[in-house]
Amino acid sequence: MSVTTSLSTRASVKADAVVLFFYQDQKDFDAAVKNLIKDVPHAKPVIDSKDFEGKALQTALVYCGSGYATNRIILVGLGKKADVSIEIVRRAAAVATKAAAACKSSSVAYDLPEVKGLDAEEIAQAVSEGACLSQYKYDKHKTVSKNKNGQLVKKFTILSDKTSAKLVKKGADSANAIIAGVMAARDLANAPNNEIYPETLGKAAVALGKMHGFKTTVLDKKKIQALKMGGLLGVNQGSVRPPVFIIMEYYGGPKSEKPIVLVGKGITFDTGGISIKPAAGMSDMKGDMHGSATVIGTMATIAASGIKRNVIGLVPSTENMPSGTAMVPGDILTFMNGKTAEIDNTDAEGRLVLADALCYAERYKPQAVIDLATLTGAVVVALGNVTTGMMGNDDGIKAKLKKAAARTSEYVCELPLYEEYEELISSDYADIKNSGGRGAGSITAGLFLQHFVSYPWVHLDIAGTGMTSKATHYTPRGCTGVGVRLLTEAIKNW
Ligand code: BES
Ligand code: MN
Ligand code: ZN
Repeated sequence: MSVTTSLSTRASVKADAVVLFFYQDQKDFDAAVKNLIKDVPHAKPVIDSKDFEGKALQTALVYCGSGYATNRIILVGLGKKADVSIEIVRRAAAVATKAAAACKSSSVAYDLPEVKGLDAEEIAQAVSEGACLSQYKYDKHKTVSKNKNGQLVKKFTILSDKTSAKLVKKGADSANAIIAGVMAARDLANAPNNEIYPETLGKAAVALGKMHGFKTTVLDKKKIQALKMGGLLGVNQGSVRPPVFIIMEYYGGPKSEKPIVLVGKGITFDTGGISIKPAAGMSDMKGDMHGSATVIGTMATIAASGIKRNVIGLVPSTENMPSGTAMVPGDILTFMNGKTAEIDNTDAEGRLVLADALCYAERYKPQAVIDLATLTGAVVVALGNVTTGMMGNDDGIKAKLKKAAARTSEYVCELPLYEEYEELISSDYADIKNSGGRGAGSITAGLFLQHFVSYPWVHLDIAGTGMTSKATHYTPRGCTGVGVRLLTEAIKNW
């Protein structure tokens, strides 16, 4: 899915539908409407009815009859000029695209609005993202009735005049790289475990690296053993399928610049292991590799857009299965750096595989490490599906992520790693234990990880934001691809 740009006008463009944006402010609304009715008299009854007043995310459909080359115009509101934001532009593009899809439009053109504080590049990017991302559906395994609820829009055209053409093209290009990364992340995370398991996750990273321009190395079980990654091997112990450790490298910056390392939890299915999860809803755990999906998707976006930074992606990947060979509570694992942990609950497996990856990250002498993981149910209790939980030891990285979050609306909320919580994960038999009980579950998980870092680091718990049962404007239900836009924005402006 991608957008193209065109010098056609709203009147001349050939598309199943044309989207026009309106402000609610009376003067702007009246002027825009007058202009529209002059070309398309059929728009008058809709406007006269006052069913459409330009309120934020309001839509209306006009059948042109004559005046425009298209037969359908989707009017969409941006609300009051004083309240408009880049997120409202994305959402308006999304709801307008859904309205177009609902009336059988498979090609849509967008006449860009003017937005105070944003240039044509930013507006084009926002409209493109909102439009395309709203049309995602994981339906590759459906062989019948794919489009039960109307079809999806397949062709997206962003209109521009000659003066803004260059900027609009730049915005569309940036959006296309982001859309590719978010879609890749959603596809990987939504895929079931019999399709995406460690070996095939590695293959997907290799394929995306070839397509977008980053280098991928997949370490097999023998190499993982040689590295003494006891956490990854411990979690893998109950599985028939072997683990992998995926390394993705993109050097877009100066040689002397230390890299930013992204680490993603790659549990392709989390049964809980011997501390097995309840049956209801267990299938959601096919998305327990969302952190890795986000890291792989972000590598794709960053490489595709040629961002001038050095970025490394690391993914420890295995299933978490119960079996006669599985690790059991009480077991003690030794990680790559020699530290030990007692297994209190085999369902707290994410931190075990991440611990080894965080040790491995050290060899890059990173200027920053950011890990992403669907790590705790507790973060869903605390923050729901709206905000990612953020923890870490470096205020500079946190500030960068907060800034990128405000821009992308992929929100982050900080949780504290106070030393007082450490006693919850102290162990009688090992250096630490892997579960701290019910209270402060996200924080004790973050503290566990902190034992394995020796550099500026931030941990993002995306258990809530990575999966949702309720669609929002440009995010369908299921796995969301969260983090690709956030990380890309942060790294671009690093
Ligand atoms: N993958 C889960 C966390 C999760 C829960 C992600 C719900 C998405 C939705 C993780 O491995 C897990 O099971 N965590 C346990 C930790 C506990 C045993 C300390 C949890 O949150 O219950
Ligand atoms: Mn688990
Ligand atoms: Zn898990």
